[in-house]
Amino acid sequence: MKTHFQLLITTSCMGALLFAGQAPAQTPSPSGGPLMKAIVYHDFGSPDVLRLGEIERPVPTDNQLLVRVRAASVNPLDWHYMEGTPYLGRPFEFGLLKPAVTRLGVDFSGTVEAVGKNVTQFKPGDEVFGGKNGAFAEYVVVPEDRAVVLKPASLTFEQAASLPIAAITALQALRDKGKIQPGQKILINGASGGVGTFAVQIAKSFGAEVTGVCSGRNAEMVRSIGADHVIDYTKEDFTKSGQRYDVIVDNVGNRSLLECRRVLNPNGKYIGIGGGGVNDGRWTGPLVGVMKMLGLSPFVTQEVGMMLAELNKKDLTILADLMQAGKVTPVIDRTYTLSQVPEALRYLEEGHARGKVVIIVKDNNETSPVSANRVADSASTTGPVAIALKLIAIPIGALIVPIVVALVLNRRFQRGNPGKRGYRWGYYFGVMSLIAGLVLGLLLEGATALIVCGLIYAVLAWFFSQRHHWAWIALTILSFNPVAWIINLIYLRKRWAEDSVELVS
Ligand SMILES: NC(=O)c1ccc[n+]([C@@H]2O[C@H](COP(=O)([O-])OP(=O)(O)OC[C@H]3O[C@@H](n4cnc5c(N)ncnc54)[C@H](OP(=O)(O)O)[C@@H]3O)[C@@H](O)[C@H]2O)c1
Repeated sequence: MKTHFQLLITTSCMGALLFAGQAPAQTPSPSGGPLMKAIVYHDFGSPDVLRLGEIERPVPTDNQLLVRVRAASVNPLDWHYMEGTPYLGRPFEFGLLKPAVTRLGVDFSGTVEAVGKNVTQFKPGDEVFGGKNGAFAEYVVVPEDRAVVLKPASLTFEQAASLPIAAITALQALRDKGKIQPGQKILINGASGGVGTFAVQIAKSFGAEVTGVCSGRNAEMVRSIGADHVIDYTKEDFTKSGQRYDVIVDNVGNRSLLECRRVLNPNGKYIGIGGGGVNDGRWTGPLVGVMKMLGLSPFVTQEVGMMLAELNKKDLTILADLMQAGKVTPVIDRTYTLSQVPEALRYLEEGHARGKVVIIVKDNNETSPVSANRVADSASTTGPVAIALKLIAIPIGALIVPIVVALVLNRRFQRGNPGKRGYRWGYYFGVMSLIAGLVLGLLLEGATALIVCGLIYAVLAWFFSQRHHWAWIALTILSFNPVAWIINLIYLRKRWAEDSVELVS
């Protein structure tokens, strides 16, 4: 979520204090200001790393409002931050060894408690909802111009808190990426989850014919929120249904792109939202999927792509209107209290939530802090230093190894052919082409594609290193890389000319 990342970067961590025992510790704040309860974490790992701590209550600046949180909701985004996965995101976003931001949660609803002197759109007592990092807390401060809007009176706090990330994702996927039109056939894979339950209803509100994919136990619920057809994934594979869809919204990512294309109209759209459980894709997350789509999109007539939702006021207002009009009603699976956030995340991590999981932030003091005796098994299964070392070593290795191989091959060539010009770039290009061939095989999915692409590029790279001009041309074209085309045009033509001169003489 682009906005969340920005919010998380720009929001400074609050000085969190942990529970040491069974009762919340009343640690005086350094500034002497009031305290609040909030979920905090200082290590990546399972939900056991979370603590209900007492930290300083935030004070709104001139352009911010202080919101007393009444409800929050849980999203897979929260467990990505908590687990620090995919690891690739650690140097850029989550924090390399320790969480960069020690607070969790985004979706919230609540009552405005105080406003800064420049705030004009809100006043104390207003009921609002929106997205702000650190939402698993008694209070959040939100800049007036960010993702916060008035809550329609007809919505409960729980309903409003369940909207932001999931419903905005569904709306932007269907409206902006899918360009959904009345009468179109839409397939929602993962129709019974947080995003899916909103996607089914929003697609219906656009007048589409909706097919939802979920397990049999959720079929009736998905039908009840408007799906015209339901496919039980435990009995039927939607990619073999023989149907054709105009838009596929994929919240699960358990079918390959090539399989999904089988049930997509020639000018249809595939929108990848996410997928994968807590133990899937821990290193690269959706990056492989994104690369596959980038690799495939020039060769197919359909539009394929991943989407990144963005929280904004405009869409929150549209969603509130849809709810007031009765076109969208959140499906709330379970509710938990603030101290039970770890349980809520544990449940979400199982990957079978039925709609949204909501946290109710009570007025009264909660006396059941998260048990401190879970610290022992809370560490991430892979050591943070080992992950950091690999994160540094892998890109360096990927850069350096082909260079070293190219230098070694070039040296061998020069020993065997004294007096002949070196060929460093050529060898480097050959090695990289072989790697690119293997990557292309992976993108095309399937062992056969991997072997065929690997062999083709390996054979071409071999002839290329033997300085066969036809292989130079073929491999250059098959690099699909305009930068390599230009470099080779200059470099290889020069070498070609030198070789011709040598042959003549
Ligand atoms: N790109 C973005 O900006 C963005 C924004 C929000 C979310 N996401 C991602 O989108 C994904 C979905 O989010 P969510 O909030 O909807 O998660 P969620 O609430 O945890 O989704 C759980 C649902 O997935 C269903 N499911 C599990 N396996 C399935 C399968 N093989 N086929 C069909 N359905 C299956 C489950 O149904 P059953 O119980 O019936 O199995 C359950 O209802 C996550 O990966 C999340 O990270 C991305």
